[in-house]
Amino acid sequence: MYEQYWGLKAPPFQNVPDPNFFFLSARHREGLARLLYAVKHNKGAALLVGDVGCGKTTLSRALILQLAEEKYDVGLITNPALPGNDFLEEIDLQLGIHPSNNSKAAILRALNDRLLANVREGKETVLIVDEAHSIRDPDVFEELRMLLNFQLNDRFLLTLILMAQPEINEIIGRIKQLEQRIAMDRSAGYLPMLVVGTAGTVGVGAVDPLRDIAAVCRRQEVWFHVDGAYGAPAAALPRISDDLLALSEADSLALDPHKWLYSPLEAGCTLVKNPAHLEDAFSFHPEYYNFKVSEEEPALNYYELGMQNSRGFRALKVWLALRMVGKAGFVRMIRDDISLSRAMFDAVRRQPALEPFAQNLSIATFRYLPQDLRGKGEAAAEYVNDLNRELLNRLQTGGEAFISNAVVDGTYLLRACIVNFRTKLADVKSLPELVVRIGSQVDSELRPASLHA
Ligand SMILES: Cc1ncc(COP(=O)(O)O)c(C=O)c1O
Repeated sequence: MYEQYWGLKAPPFQNVPDPNFFFLSARHREGLARLLYAVKHNKGAALLVGDVGCGKTTLSRALILQLAEEKYDVGLITNPALPGNDFLEEIDLQLGIHPSNNSKAAILRALNDRLLANVREGKETVLIVDEAHSIRDPDVFEELRMLLNFQLNDRFLLTLILMAQPEINEIIGRIKQLEQRIAMDRSAGYLPMLVVGTAGTVGVGAVDPLRDIAAVCRRQEVWFHVDGAYGAPAAALPRISDDLLALSEADSLALDPHKWLYSPLEAGCTLVKNPAHLEDAFSFHPEYYNFKVSEEEPALNYYELGMQNSRGFRALKVWLALRMVGKAGFVRMIRDDISLSRAMFDAVRRQPALEPFAQNLSIATFRYLPQDLRGKGEAAAEYVNDLNRELLNRLQTGGEAFISNAVVDGTYLLRACIVNFRTKLADVKSLPELVVRIGSQVDSELRPASLHA
């Protein structure tokens, strides 16, 4: 009646992605051509991004119309906001595959069988995921990535097409490598249980992005341990980086008072946020111990909190130092060490024969680098490593100063880590000069003729 009244051949379009009313603008034509190219040339995956209302869904239907049924086996997922396994089940469902059960292994095996059967019949399998920006679970993105591993030697077994709003770029960008590794492990059937970050690396004193790592661990329900053996005490300073402050988010923390809490060797410890975990893991009650369990006076038995049973009183020296100087004293000493290290780095910068590398916390790294050897290729780089190695030996045995070394990406560096409250400004200022003096001496003895100008 409607058609008769208005003299129409067919009812007008409704608010559904009806490809009969698809107007091929230049951009839609290009989008469709690109998607067809990805499918017909077996490119593995394609992503079409467009704003809401721009016709992506209609375009996906138009694409399906172009894929003849006898040559293409097409699955269309319109609601991809499903958790990992449900998402995989949905793929099977949309391709009309019936796995023997709903375990992940069965779902994937059935999918693999279908992909191979399609290849045998000369058919291509295409999976279109509409509204892909609504996928929030990084595990699902990982599942999608893994689907591309369905391959023969020379070709993908599946073409995956994602249609999404522009926010997908940001969502994918947010999946950090760490989160990706965890998701990969999960989809490989492993159970990731621990991430270790470092607050002050051994070599250059770098601090990991602990705040971000903590957030990933929380999201992924993985234990977060921080190696703060050296750097953790700096978190007590009033103005310190947010990443060090994020130590408070760790489930456990390794801290060596014999490093930056000035204790004599050895006093290493692990701190945990919830000591009940330690008791759950280590507590045992041998019959040759007498236990008086009393609610009023609960006993703290340290042997129940770790592997060691009979233990020495290492904590005494840490406690004594804390009693002597207090937290304020430690904060002052640590702050002084950091400023001394910065002063040393500045002095290194003023020496043209030294190359500054990094300054973090109280560690400065640099090397002796004769100016005529800069940027001189591999043989020179190898020689500069040898030169610094020998320089350090002479410095250490010479008795005027004691520093150590670090190796970063094959570059041998001199490393001054200041954790001694007796170190003075005059000491740190004199070191670069001393290094240059010994360096030029070693250079004049060791340099091979081929590296002379
Ligand atoms: C960050 C960090 N973790 C662990 C260690 C190992 O410490 P130790 O040799 O005292 O057990 C070090 C030593 O330098 C370190 O700097």
